[in-house]
Amino acid sequence: MSSNSINRNNRRYWDSTSRDYHDETTISIKDFHYGPLVPGDLTLKLLPESLEGLKCYEFGCGAAQNSFFLSSRGAKCYASDISRKQIDAAHAIAERTGLKVELSCQGMDEPFPVVHGGFDLIHSAYAISFSPYPHRVVAQAAAALKPGGILLFSTGHPLFAGEWLELEGEHGLFLRDYFKLPPDIRYDDEGKEAIRSVFYNFEKLSKWTSRAGLMIERILEPRPVELRNHSARQLMDKVPYYSSAWWEHYERLAHCPVVTILKCRKPA
Ligand SMILES: C[S@@+](CC[C@H](N)C(=O)[O-])C[C@H]1O[C@@H](n2cnc3c(N)ncnc32)[C@H](O)[C@@H]1O
Repeated sequence: MSSNSINRNNRRYWDSTSRDYHDETTISIKDFHYGPLVPGDLTLKLLPESLEGLKCYEFGCGAAQNSFFLSSRGAKCYASDISRKQIDAAHAIAERTGLKVELSCQGMDEPFPVVHGGFDLIHSAYAISFSPYPHRVVAQAAAALKPGGILLFSTGHPLFAGEWLELEGEHGLFLRDYFKLPPDIRYDDEGKEAIRSVFYNFEKLSKWTSRAGLMIERILEPRPVELRNHSARQLMDKVPYYSSAWWEHYERLAHCPVVTILKCRKPA
């Protein structure tokens, strides 16, 4: 499939599911999220301690909750997404909260915005896996950072490409071939491919970042927050990214990471 048709699918899929996604998913702007049911940055502490005045860019932002969190802490934020409906959802948050984020509707492989001196922080949660050219996105991010700047992103953990199966009363992971990770493909009503999200192993992630001249500072594979015996309300207060669909996978997430988080730095 060509990169144009992949991006066309991405736009169409997220335009059509944006409303349901936001109805079913609770994403807080009081913390910075990395993935479903896992702790946010108030716990993981990967962001710089002071955010005041930092220039930040988020790609594949969805409704840009992470950028609104940064903006509420004094950062100057830019954010983009390929889906118009997702950007509309971000505008709705801006209106509701009065927080400012410069929003644009564009693919992550289109040119990043340019700011004087470069960005202090470029970030993205669970979006790079949809790009046809993720290595180019990382290279572009590296070029747009100022020396000493940070690239912080999360993406589907390679083990999440496996199936969670029950065998003789025990649950566990079945992954046929780690070296050929199967993508997560969703199909439309006619059985045609609607969207695909690709899983990347650590060797690939480190190849993209080192080729882009970035140093990996941290790799995290977080467990979910301890959530058993909580009401739905308490769950939503405890994790910045919650949905009942993900809650159904809690047992799996408690034994096998759902997300890889990468924090890289451009040498000063
Ligand atoms: C799983 S959602 C995550 C959204 C947001 N980061 C969050 O955590 O809620 C993936 C997002 O990536 C966006 N996306 C998919 N392909 C893209 C591309 N090529 N360029 C920019 N955004 C893209 C989708 O529109 C969608 O909003």
